[in-house]
Amino acid sequence: MSNLAFQITMLVLLMVVALRATAAEPETKETVTNLHFYFHDIVSGNNPTAIRVVQPADSYKLTTLFGAVVMVDDPLTETPDPNSKLVGRAQGFYTSACQQELGLLMSMSFSFTDGSSISILGKNSALNPVREMAVVGGTGKFRMARGYALAQTHWFNTAGDAIVAYNVTVVH
Ligand SMILES: *[C@@H]1O[C@H](CO)[C@@H](O)[C@H](O)[C@H]1NC(C)=O
Repeated sequence: MSNLAFQITMLVLLMVVALRATAAEPETKETVTNLHFYFHDIVSGNNPTAIRVVQPADSYKLTTLFGAVVMVDDPLTETPDPNSKLVGRAQGFYTSACQQELGLLMSMSFSFTDGSSISILGKNSALNPVREMAVVGGTGKFRMARGYALAQTHWFNTAGDAIVAYNVTVVH
C-alpha cells in the first residue's frame, strides 16, 4: 500500500469511528412519573362539563348508547372534592364504541395546569371496576410520553355524573 493510500484509509477509518461514537451517544435518561387525580364528568345541571353532541343509533338508545359522542372539558382535581385544587382538564371526547356493553372509546388530552399534557386513547368499559387506557404521547415535560392510565369510578349518580379516580404511569 502506498503511503498516500495508507493515509486515506486511516482517515476514512477515523471518520467511521467518529460517526459511530456520535450515533452511540446515550439518549437522555427516561423518567417515570406517577400521577393521581380525580376526573369530574358532569353531564347534568346547568353547567355540564360533558355534552352529548351526537345521539346514539336508534336501536341502541336504551342499551349501550352505541354511536353517541360526548365532548368533554372535565376538571381534574387533587381529591374527589370538586372544589379541591384543579390540576388540569380532560379535553376531548368519548364515544360509545361497543354494541354489546357500555364501552367508551376515550380520545382526549389531559392538559395540566403547568402547561404539560398527556394524550389518552383507549377503551373504557365504564362498568368494570378498573379500566386501563393507553397514554400515547405527551407535551411539555411529558414530551415523547408513553404509559398507561388506570381508572376507577369513585362516585356516580343516576343522572350519569361521575367522579373517577385516575392513576397514571408515564414514562417520558
Ligand atoms: C391508585 O393509587 C392509589 C394510591 O396509591 C391506590 O390506593 C389505588 O388502589 C390505586 N388504584 C388503582 C385502580 O390502581
